[in-house]
Amino acid sequence: SRNLDHVKVAGQRVLLRADLNVPMQGGVISDLTRLERLAPTISELSSKGAKVIVLSHFDRPKGKVVEAMSLRPIAAALAKVLGRPVAFAADCIGPVALAAVDALHDGDVLVLENTRFHAGEEENNPQFAAELAKLADLYVNDAFSAAHRAHASTEGITRHLPSFAGRLMQAELHALETALGHPARPVAAIVAGSKVSTKLELLNNLVGKVDILVIGGAMANTFLAAQGHDVGKSLQEKDLHKTALAILEEAHRKGCEIVLPHDLVVAETFAENAPTQVVGVDAVPPHMMALDVGPATVAAFIKRLPQIKTIIWNGPLGAFETKPFDASTNALADAIAKATQEGKIVSVGGGGDTVSALKLAGVEDRLSYLSSAGGAFLEWMEGKILPGVEALSKDLSNLG
Ligand code: 3PG
Repeated sequence: SRNLDHVKVAGQRVLLRADLNVPMQGGVISDLTRLERLAPTISELSSKGAKVIVLSHFDRPKGKVVEAMSLRPIAAALAKVLGRPVAFAADCIGPVALAAVDALHDGDVLVLENTRFHAGEEENNPQFAAELAKLADLYVNDAFSAAHRAHASTEGITRHLPSFAGRLMQAELHALETALGHPARPVAAIVAGSKVSTKLELLNNLVGKVDILVIGGAMANTFLAAQGHDVGKSLQEKDLHKTALAILEEAHRKGCEIVLPHDLVVAETFAENAPTQVVGVDAVPPHMMALDVGPATVAAFIKRLPQIKTIIWNGPLGAFETKPFDASTNALADAIAKATQEGKIVSVGGGGDTVSALKLAGVEDRLSYLSSAGGAFLEWMEGKILPGVEALSKDLSNLG
């Protein structure tokens, strides 16, 4: 797809689809990462003399105006991150938006109100997309993390305006392509998290693409139980034993090595600082539950890192939000970060919990790339076409 190297933006009104959907706790933004990652694109557009009109959803207001889901406070936070004033318009279409755009000088930045206050956004309503398009001359999509949604501001709009990828979109696509599209081999994937059911498509796609697949988290319990191990009170999905065995069979057929835990950290209760034991997968006491992958499993995999060229990581190995069940995730993250810094491995992580877990592990700046995306990262790893990305490569507008 075309990017900012392929267009003159000076004096142009540029509609920039960003993902301002930042995490909020009690009205306070708890993580500024998405704003920080977006800042270079805005600064580039602004310094090149574009009128920058930022468009985004926030949360899930379902087509209604919900004051608590206004982008106004986030526009203020963005101004701080950018170190420059940012104007705000209380609607993303219609006279309010048009007037705010008309008031812009070259280089100015404006944030429009939450696109999801209009039902037309999620419906990908053509009229709504046309209303958005009226505001600008060009469209730039920098919201990879929203690209799995075929909405008016991510897909429909590209039928009306010449469309380009922003710098963050470019970086995300480049990282994913390096990790999974044309990876240096051997390539390993770490897939963990609590449920096999939410990662089925992912597992099925990866067994055909990676050389080694490490399975951790509570979803490993389902595999271990399917293989006949007694996992005690551990979280598992009994109805997915057959599915788990079919995945192992398919991996074997395709020459993908599956690595399951051979030891586990178990506890009687899932609580902060609960007394724990490390047991082999054949020795889980009936009244205990696995809450993390065991240290021997992690150490054995870390020993193999020198033989691996690329690692893609989705999902924490244990119940990382509760200590000490973050230990395996932290140990592995640290070893991978070290190998990355030594130039021995390309490492890419992403998807919901993974980003928080890897940040808590303190490796966010030491991996090759940590995605800003949750669901979009997962869908990409599942091998799905992301409508927001597809629309950019097709140039549906035929205008540019
Ligand atoms: C995200 O946070 O993953 C994106 O902003 C998409 O949000 P959504 O799941 O509400 O569409």
